[in-house]
Amino acid sequence: MNAQTTFNFQWLSPLGIAVVLFLLSGAINILTPIAGIKSRWREAGLMSMMKSFYNITYSRFRAPWDIGPRKELVELVESGRIQPCKAIDLGSGTASNCVFLAQRGFDVTGVDYAAAAVELGRKRAAEAGVTANFIQDDLTPLRHVTGTFDLLVDYGTLDDLKPSNRELYLRNVLLLARPGSRFVLYCFEWTPRWWERPFFFSLACEPGEIERRFGPHFHIECYGRQVDYSRWPAGYAVYLMTRKGWTT
Ligand SMILES: C[S@@+](CC[C@H](N)C(=O)[O-])C[C@H]1O[C@@H](n2cnc3c(N)ncnc32)[C@H](O)[C@@H]1O
Repeated sequence: MNAQTTFNFQWLSPLGIAVVLFLLSGAINILTPIAGIKSRWREAGLMSMMKSFYNITYSRFRAPWDIGPRKELVELVESGRIQPCKAIDLGSGTASNCVFLAQRGFDVTGVDYAAAAVELGRKRAAEAGVTANFIQDDLTPLRHVTGTFDLLVDYGTLDDLKPSNRELYLRNVLLLARPGSRFVLYCFEWTPRWWERPFFFSLACEPGEIERRFGPHFHIECYGRQVDYSRWPAGYAVYLMTRKGWTT
């Protein structure tokens, strides 16, 4: 086997693009305030850079996170803690979680702002022979998704957003959840080191952030957490939340 076949360029390319984008976003974040560029324009620029990254990744490569349905979600469904219901995947990306849920009898909607993700989702659902609804929408101004869902799932979308957009995301989540709705949320989570600070805002959550943002509206169970500073990304957490209200 030669070096070319042992080296997985399919995975390396999106990673390479991501590293360049994160360095670029760090530089933009530091330099634009110095240059007096309005934060509104800076944020719009960063957001469209991220969207392009996802569109290129889904249409040209196999994303590094294209690894099938996620462990915690599978466990929760297979153990019966989460039963088939009306579900939405926020930032459905590769659609692995949507396809898994549809195979288990859930009525699934996947939403993603990247057109290529929506296309990929439809293709993957058709290949798997399941029905799932895919909608292209931005979770911060959310215009095309309506109604409430019994289960919300987010693997790695909230932590992509800037703090101001995390607030808008939360407002939309509250519209999509009814009292008693469950929310399985996976995010990168660790205390940033000084050199990570310039780009940390669109990469991970700080410990305590999920409780601070979601605690007033959800009962929160930390379902899993791991932090290891010898690795990068250094950690993640998975939360199983239940919307507060008359049924809880
Ligand atoms: C790290 S990927 C994870 C994808 C998917 N959850 C998975 O596990 O395969 C984050 C996803 O969120 C989507 N995303 C990021 N910001 C978004 C936004 N503001 N509105 C909708 N989707 C967004 C991206 O297009 C991308 O597909």
